[in-house]
Amino acid sequence: MHILVSGGLGYIGSHTCLVLLEAGHTISIVDNLINSKIETLEKLRIISTSDFQFYQCDILDYEHLETIVHEGNVDGIIHFAGLKSVGESVSNPLEYYRVNLNTTINLTRLAVKYKIPRFVFSSSATVYGSAKSPLVESQKLLPTTNPYGETKAMCEKILNDASQANPNLGVTLLRYFNPIGAHESGLIGENPNGTPNNLMPYITQVAKGKLEKLKIFGNDYPTNDGTGVRDFIHVMDLAKGHVAAIEKQKSGVQVYNLGTGKGTSVLEIIKTFERVNNLEIPYEFIERRNGDIAEVYANVLKVGKELGWKTERNIEDMCRDAWRFENQNSQYEEEKFSELWK
Ligand code: NAD
Ligand code: WQD
Repeated sequence: MHILVSGGLGYIGSHTCLVLLEAGHTISIVDNLINSKIETLEKLRIISTSDFQFYQCDILDYEHLETIVHEGNVDGIIHFAGLKSVGESVSNPLEYYRVNLNTTINLTRLAVKYKIPRFVFSSSATVYGSAKSPLVESQKLLPTTNPYGETKAMCEKILNDASQANPNLGVTLLRYFNPIGAHESGLIGENPNGTPNNLMPYITQVAKGKLEKLKIFGNDYPTNDGTGVRDFIHVMDLAKGHVAAIEKQKSGVQVYNLGTGKGTSVLEIIKTFERVNNLEIPYEFIERRNGDIAEVYANVLKVGKELGWKTERNIEDMCRDAWRFENQNSQYEEEKFSELWK
């Protein structure tokens, strides 16, 4: 199949592109580089032996996007492009609604116009709001606590309505839990701009000495050790979930959780990271972060049964691969910097 991957140079998109190519599909990546670097394109070309198309295009630009879809003979769309920072969505909600809703509407309009039967959307466990885990796809969604989460719930609704009105449009909504880790080559991974908000990139930057110590948000949750519990999933397992979803797309709308089904606490992650990488992570406890809840983990029975997908990598793999990427990427950036000053 030929798959158009929106946001394919981003963290999850780039890993998914590699798995799609490995599975024998051809791809066109569309990205405007607002939260990714052009070097990721070079790195994808180093890792993969298969060729692919890249278009630098803003998905908000409907006319430009249409020329790409028009000439592409597209069999399916995987839509990753969007803005994803929870905190930023609180301070700049209009930008989050503008980008996340309009990118989804533009791609969906083109899927309908060009009769593209497969559409996979990056949703998030955040649509479950503060509901009690394990979270099941069929449960009623609760309001989320931030505009980012609202955009995900709204995009789900838009795609549901579009598929109902256009029965040829098959849609899969994938609700990710907490993606971490990196490709085993160490060439691509999560590389946020500025100080990371998420746990794993913060840990790797503390390990590298870029940040002084990790601040753990709360140690008084009703969990085994008092710290927050999340369902961390290796980004390569997540990537494989997309390939299973697009290959097995049915008509109508399917919804799947992509997680491991198992919760791991913040302290357990730190201890595992220290053990497998043989280093120490200095940390301190501070007050709870606004909007956080004690436990978030998935029920993954449905995705296992219907897509035959399950995770293959454990927390140790996630910690090892995240650290390998941090090390290699820091070295790559230092070399690039010294090249510039030659
Ligand atoms: P990312 O920011 O690394 O990747 C998104 C990519 O989309 C970037 O390369 C960015 O340049 C591109 N992009 C953004 N707006 C665009 C536009 N208007 N036109 C073209 N390209 C555009 O994010 P990610 O972590 O890879 O997440 C991918 C998707 O998964 C997002 O929709 C995100 O909301 C969702 N998601 C992420 C997580 C997570 O923890 N990373 C969890 C649940 C859901
Ligand atoms: C994990 C745990 C923190 C940083 C977010 C989004 C969610 C989804 C995934 C997109 C929590 C603790 C963290 C730190 C800490 N993204 N923590 N110190 O909040 O579960 O989910 O990313 O859809 O929508 O909300 O992920 O990595 O920020 O936090 O103690 O410096 O680590 O309190 O318990 P979260 P996270």
